[in-house]
Amino acid sequence: MSTPHIALITGVTGQDGSYLSEFLLDKGYEVHGLIRRSSVDFRERIAHLEGKPHFHLHYADMTDSMSLVKLIGMVRPTEIYNLAAQSHVQVSFDAPEFTADVDAIGVLRILEAVRTNHLEATCRIYQASTSELYGKVEEVPQNEQTPFHPYSPYAVAKLYGYWIVKEYREAYHMFCCSGILFNHESERRGETFVTRKITLAAARIAQGKQDCLYLGNLDSLRDWGYAKDYVECMWLILQHDKPEDFVIATGVQHTVREFATLAFRYAGINLRWEGAGVDEKGIDQATGKVVVAVSPDFYRPTDVVNLLGDPTKAKNELGWNPQSTSFERLVEIMVSHDVRKVAADHVAGVMRTNLAEYLEKGLVK
Ligand code: NAP
Ligand code: GDD
Repeated sequence: MSTPHIALITGVTGQDGSYLSEFLLDKGYEVHGLIRRSSVDFRERIAHLEGKPHFHLHYADMTDSMSLVKLIGMVRPTEIYNLAAQSHVQVSFDAPEFTADVDAIGVLRILEAVRTNHLEATCRIYQASTSELYGKVEEVPQNEQTPFHPYSPYAVAKLYGYWIVKEYREAYHMFCCSGILFNHESERRGETFVTRKITLAAARIAQGKQDCLYLGNLDSLRDWGYAKDYVECMWLILQHDKPEDFVIATGVQHTVREFATLAFRYAGINLRWEGAGVDEKGIDQATGKVVVAVSPDFYRPTDVVNLLGDPTKAKNELGWNPQSTSFERLVEIMVSHDVRKVAADHVAGVMRTNLAEYLEKGLVK
């Protein structure tokens, strides 16, 4: 009988954790997810998986070593996907210590928990690393050899995660790898990341439920891919014959302004841009109304403005296709989802949280 595939996913309730759970369940894995205690017991992204016989959830926390040691000892995973993180760059300026605890020391806790349970030889570990490591970029595009220059508390914490994984690989011969993933989005993306903030606002504005969308730096360039495509790569990295780090990206770059223009077009609003800097406005060509404006509240103390990945290594060595979902298709998927969602929320008379109103007033970053 072949060895059973047992995966432990930290960050299972997040965007990537939910897609990865589906992907691994389809492959026949026994999937265990780490969840943390919250006052609201509502796990929207994985609700459809709860109750499935091969899907199990366990309480623990990335800031609690003992809970990790116990959980890993009980599950005895053959693969760990460490996706848990305080993943919002702007929030990392407000909560830098918590970000370091989860995103840096949390990685060390996972590695040590594997060693404590003597699973080094049987458990492969994937670390959710990030293009934010390139930060104030030293070259464009960025590949596995590009020097790092982290440019936020989040990126600095993630840099520790990257190096400690490399250290444990060399010191203890563990099969642990970092996927250096560029931005990946979806209809499950958190609502305060720029893409989802835009697609939800475009849907609301088109349906008369919001007047204006406030954004920060419109010139920022990102290499945006589809999250569903990226979780396959996490798995491929752990199936590779040797433990290595990989850049995962599409190799195509767009500005925040371009994303917004396309999202509004899919929602039925053609934008015209006027002005520059904080005075720039996106105007609905049909009505002349300002529907996008800039708010300095969304500027960051230091911002990463030119991310473009070179996925050649992943393409050649893992056989991964970086172009399976185009930028245009990604925006279309997100907008059409949010147009339906906003309409359904209205029909059902659902009282949404005040997030939309807060976002509009610039009270939530
Ligand atoms: P996400 O939606 O923000 O999910 C983060 C997950 O981490 C959530 O499940 C969250 O749980 C969990 N978490 C946070 N703090 C925790 C703690 N103390 N203990 C246990 N769990 C904790 O993030 P994502 O977009 O799926 O990204 C997944 C990973 O990839 C993250 O590490 C992120 O930094 C990294 N990454 C993401 C991208 C991207 O573009 N999406 C690109 C590169 C790297 P709750 O639900 O309880 O909050
Ligand atoms: N969130 C947000 N909100 N970003 C804005 C806004 C706004 O209103 N206006 C402009 N931006 C700009 C930000 O300044 C940034 O340059 C860019 O849009 C993308 O911001 P986010 O969507 O918040 O993502 P991120 O690139 O900072 O971080 C995401 O991708 C990283 C990989 O590069 C997160 O998922 C990280 O966890 C991940 O590591």
